[in-house]
Amino acid sequence: MRTLLSSIRTIGSKHLKVLFSLTLCASASLSWSDKTVSLKLAHNLNQKHMVHKALIYMDQQLDTLSQGTLRIRIYPGGQMGDAVDTLQMLQHGIIDMTKGSASDLELFDNTFAIFNLPYLFESPEHFNRVVYGPVGRAIMTSPTDKGLFAIAAYETRFRSFYARKPIHSPKDLKGMKVRVQPSPTTIEMIKLMGGMPTPIPFGETYTALQQGVVDMAENNEPSYIDTRHHEVARFFSEDQHSSIPDYLMISTHTWKNKLTEEQRKMIREAAERSENYQKTLWNETLNAARETAKKSGVTFIKVDKQPFREAIQPLYQQFTRHPRQATLLAKIQSEAQGIPIPGPTLTNQPTFSTQP
Ligand code: GCU
Repeated sequence: MRTLLSSIRTIGSKHLKVLFSLTLCASASLSWSDKTVSLKLAHNLNQKHMVHKALIYMDQQLDTLSQGTLRIRIYPGGQMGDAVDTLQMLQHGIIDMTKGSASDLELFDNTFAIFNLPYLFESPEHFNRVVYGPVGRAIMTSPTDKGLFAIAAYETRFRSFYARKPIHSPKDLKGMKVRVQPSPTTIEMIKLMGGMPTPIPFGETYTALQQGVVDMAENNEPSYIDTRHHEVARFFSEDQHSSIPDYLMISTHTWKNKLTEEQRKMIREAAERSENYQKTLWNETLNAARETAKKSGVTFIKVDKQPFREAIQPLYQQFTRHPRQATLLAKIQSEAQGIPIPGPTLTNQPTFSTQP
């Protein structure tokens, strides 16, 4: 954990210059006209990513709702740093919004760890019931006291392994360096499967795969294609080990101090529209990505998921030992069939009056 935190600090310092120049020019770039409030949103996705498209859509919706007086200025592609950097910038009020996946967010608030638990969701329907239901919505506001919270959740479907050689079972991960997001739960998952977890920023993974810094990575099919990872890791093993939501995060400082109640309402409305818009992109994008991969000669491998599930069982034992995580896990598992069980409600809700 110490190594992980120090590497995060190193990534952070790389972007210190950006951070200072942003602070210095903050007032100049805050608005496009005297009456326009412009919120800065930086993220690590490329412009083909569905979440980036949903954020563009959100800005268009805000433009309409506010008659041009409330806009989002988007800095994509990791130009202001990777996810952990931009999440920290939110905490310091340097930028207003960013995208964080539950993987990055686990480092800021352990409540998000649950979404990094492998084989948590049975199907995309199960994911949607949880992430857009009461449990998921409560988790979104959990980190408010840490200076940020989520205002939109985005669907991500299943992540699977892809490598430079075929992966059929956890045995094939032995000695393999696997690019992961920074979640401690995911890092543990790879260790339990026998691989060597290597946290690397999303935008640096192509080069890491190409140069053999890592032997494999994991993601859903659209991200595998959008990032061109399929050019350097030609075997896609459909083990479907996780489905980790992306979130649009906003700084608590921005929410409380920069916006009127009217503007907050517009942001909530636009955020909901962008969530719905992103969901409509999924099926089409997933099919297109698989098609592109097949045409380029990628080998899709159907695997028996059971040995993967068995390898990570200690993680489930770890989560059930933790009372809060155990409650969450039971609630989420009960939603698999669409029959939620009653249970204690989540605490840790935002306490300020302008809560989302
Ligand atoms: C997906 C996810 C991103 C995340 C990326 C990654 O594309 O939508 O939010 O950053 O995976 O693996 O880093």
